[in-house]
Amino acid sequence: MTATAKAKTTAPAHTIRAALRDAAARLKAAGVATPMLDAKLLLRASEGLGAAALIAEEERLLKHSARFLTWIERRAAGEPVSRILGSRGFWKHDFLISPSVLDPRSDTETLVEAVLAAFPDRSEPLLILDLGVGSGCILLSLLAEYVSAHGLGVDVSADALDIAAQNAAALDVSDRYEGREGDWWAGLEHDRFDVIVSNPPYIPQAEIAGLAREVRDHDPALALDGGVDGLDAYRAILAHASEHVAPRGRLFLELGHGQAAAVAALAPAARLQVVTQHRDLSGTVRCLGLAHAY
Ligand SMILES: C[S@@+](CC[C@H](N)C(=O)[O-])C[C@H]1O[C@@H](n2cnc3c(N)ncnc32)[C@H](O)[C@@H]1O
Repeated sequence: MTATAKAKTTAPAHTIRAALRDAAARLKAAGVATPMLDAKLLLRASEGLGAAALIAEEERLLKHSARFLTWIERRAAGEPVSRILGSRGFWKHDFLISPSVLDPRSDTETLVEAVLAAFPDRSEPLLILDLGVGSGCILLSLLAEYVSAHGLGVDVSADALDIAAQNAAALDVSDRYEGREGDWWAGLEHDRFDVIVSNPPYIPQAEIAGLAREVRDHDPALALDGGVDGLDAYRAILAHASEHVAPRGRLFLELGHGQAAAVAALAPAARLQVVTQHRDLSGTVRCLGLAHAY
């Protein structure tokens, strides 16, 4: 019997404590980086338990053993916990996700913070555009912060827009949110925005095959593929950005690791200048703030 098969969770009537121990062993054998954490998250969701109840009730039998074991096998096969549960916490909210949207990353909260720092008055009636809105995590978080703002989310994926609309309803901002299917600026001829945000696809094509299976096999290619050098979407966005940034407005772009200089170099030809840069918790420059270069 292989180590993996030995570790497989097969016992029919597990206490919570035993189920967690066996599930964590199964996930560890499958190469999952955080086996006990993932096992706890899945068990809590499967049993409907808070963190404290998980400890208080660890000697009782599982009520939903079959579901938990199925979820553990999916995690062992590389599916992220958020994909299994269909939801991801981002900023201050839980966002519904589906196979059509990028799983929101905590690094992207850097972009939300950058906007909040540049526009500190939360009552400003900002007009905000999100290019590549995906689940809506950036734009909808901003609409929840700026209570008088209105937002337009553009995405080439109709399925992603459907998820963003559901998330807008869940955050109670539907009346200030509009989704539009399209290719970056298409259909936005004369519109100007106080804030334009984008977390575009930025992975160089040749690197996609080598990404972690959680990303490569579960995030949509449309959300990852940045072309040969990873910069295709930045070129497309910067080509028309100055026509759409309001006179005192800002464009905020999320960056992949090590892309700051290359993206900043595209700004002058776009008649924009980099005015702020923002690091994520690991120290990587994760976001650039750009304004008109008058
Ligand atoms: C990296 S994901 C970001 C999603 C979300 N804003 C976030 O931060 O989690 C990029 C998004 O851009 C969308 N996209 C890709 N190409 C596009 C295009 N040509 N026009 C509009 N949206 C596009 C993808 O469908 C995807 O939802």
